[in-house]
Amino acid sequence: MPRPFYVTTPIYYVNARPHLGHAYTTIVADVATRFHTMRGSDVYFLTGTDEHGDKVVRAAKKENMTPRVYVDTISQLFRDLWPELSVNNSDFIRTTDPLHMTVVEHVLQKIYDAGDIYFAEYEGRYCFGCERFYTDRELVDGKCPDHETEPEIIRESNYFFKMSRYQDWLIDHIQSTPDFIRPERYKNEALAFLKEPLEDLCISRPKTRLKWGITLPFDKKYVTYVWFDALLNYVSALGYPDGERYRTFWPVVQHIVAKDILKPHGIYWPIMLKAAGIPIYRHLNVHGYWIIEQSKMSKSLGNVVEPLALKNIYGLDAFRFFLIRDMAFGLDSSFSEDSLVQRINSDLANDLGNLFSRVLSMVHKYCEGMVPEVEAAVEQECELGLETDARSAIVEYEDLMDTFQFHNALRTVWKFIGCMNKYVDVTAPWELAKTKSGRKPLAVVLYNLLEGLRIISGLIYPVMPDTAANMQKHLGLDPQEPFYLLERLKTWKTIKPGTRLPKSIVLFPRVEPDTHKADQSAEPEQSTGYPAIKPEITIEQFSAVDLRVATVVQAEMIPRAKKVLKLEVDLGQKRIIVAGIAENYTPEELVGKQVIVVANLKPAKLMGIVSNGMLVAAVDDSGPTLATLDKPLEPGTPLR
Ligand code: MSP
Repeated sequence: MPRPFYVTTPIYYVNARPHLGHAYTTIVADVATRFHTMRGSDVYFLTGTDEHGDKVVRAAKKENMTPRVYVDTISQLFRDLWPELSVNNSDFIRTTDPLHMTVVEHVLQKIYDAGDIYFAEYEGRYCFGCERFYTDRELVDGKCPDHETEPEIIRESNYFFKMSRYQDWLIDHIQSTPDFIRPERYKNEALAFLKEPLEDLCISRPKTRLKWGITLPFDKKYVTYVWFDALLNYVSALGYPDGERYRTFWPVVQHIVAKDILKPHGIYWPIMLKAAGIPIYRHLNVHGYWIIEQSKMSKSLGNVVEPLALKNIYGLDAFRFFLIRDMAFGLDSSFSEDSLVQRINSDLANDLGNLFSRVLSMVHKYCEGMVPEVEAAVEQECELGLETDARSAIVEYEDLMDTFQFHNALRTVWKFIGCMNKYVDVTAPWELAKTKSGRKPLAVVLYNLLEGLRIISGLIYPVMPDTAANMQKHLGLDPQEPFYLLERLKTWKTIKPGTRLPKSIVLFPRVEPDTHKADQSAEPEQSTGYPAIKPEITIEQFSAVDLRVATVVQAEMIPRAKKVLKLEVDLGQKRIIVAGIAENYTPEELVGKQVIVVANLKPAKLMGIVSNGMLVAAVDDSGPTLATLDKPLEPGTPLR
């Protein structure tokens, strides 16, 4: 029996809406979980939200809500996002869940009884943004390195966790446990923290200052420090201390976090576990940061990337593929829509998509759409090592996926796609089809190609589950079956000869780099150079699109966004629309202009702004030209 697999993401703060960074970590966890499903393992995948603390109280106040209503609202945004991104988490924990709170109290009491928590007066520099005290050494020019603000001096009596007692033990544990923190650079970073004497951790906040937290079981005048509360979600969700799930999954737990929270996970957490007598987690997998045009993603810079907007434009599987393929796990990666478009066009549309449609078209052209019968006599001479290539791709892939080198695992799959394309070129099925003596080798070649595609569809399953299922369907297999099981992938000659295959499809339409509209480029080009006319629709389908006359009331540039403008338009009601027209129109020439707006388009967040509608424009090589009217009309007038 394969070992069970348990993976966690950080539980995300509810003081901000989910963005690309959260989506990345959670999709990585999903990919890892699906990979372990390929091995036939029993899997558990936990994500959730971190809901206590100062930050939340302040964010709720800003929105004029109680903390309770506020956390319910934002937590739901995270919970709802995951299915939209094909994230198949087993559980969603909230630190406000009563069961979690009971576990936190239990562990605090246990550590307190063991003598590792003491009470003392402390004066220190406290950053409200980070919700923690800073030592002078940690400050940069006297300021918090994250918030760039001067911490306030606070003196208060608090409870402290004796972390210092465990410093030598932790150094030894990190050094002697292979891959405890990986990749290696973060293990070294954690050991570098531990070169300095470890200070005891202040784990309480007086209720006079903060009420929104879990009360200390041994002193009702205090609540628990958020990190002490949050980290315990990883065991509370499993029903620690007695739950069946805890017994099954805790011994194999793997955490995934980004480098920002290496310290709490690499230092505080193992020490908390040790002090509480809980076995130490097995691996901490640390990834880098997505950077936008050289800066961190942040609300104030207005460069927060919204995952759903990207999914809606480029398709979910392409988006997931890009995230996993483009970031070397452990290193920072720079995000841009241009690199996303490039990846889609080269890796998905060209390499994989073309191979798939080329092979299926040949099966339709030369074998009447049926999986060909293979004759043993010619089998060997036409194999040319393809089966061996497939086998070694699977072995290499398995090892890379297992060790969190997802981008390299995808490279291995694409290396095999390269072997497949070469196999087509070398065997030249179109030449074999020309002669009678070529019929038998042709059958073997096409059969082998179908088998190769079956293996590719299995290997891409963790990253692109919908595409994998779609490919299976077109290979005449049942997508409801666990086709991705590694055991099945390793068995060559699984597709049944004689099976009738559906017509080929375009798996990934090319995206035209500047228009960024995947749907337009789905169609083959006509002689004009523009996409062919799209398939017919009915008048009812057309009238589902609500087009309205609108007057531009205000227009402004968005800092750091060269191509888009923020517009306020009047279409009987005022709306904010973010439009990609900045290279062709200045804000001044737009104000007062009447334009045509798609009024019932689902809102999308672009450059950190929620855009409520879309302007209609014709787009050619010179960029967008807005559709206008030949006489002024009342704002809100519908178009038919
Ligand atoms: N609540 C704590 C975690 C407690 S876990 C016991 C927290 N929350 S957070 O909302 O700030 O999430 C931080 C995590 O979000 C990062 O560790 C990473 O997983 C993800 N990311 C946030 N921004 C990111 C990028 N720009 N790039 C990649 N991932 C990032 O910290």
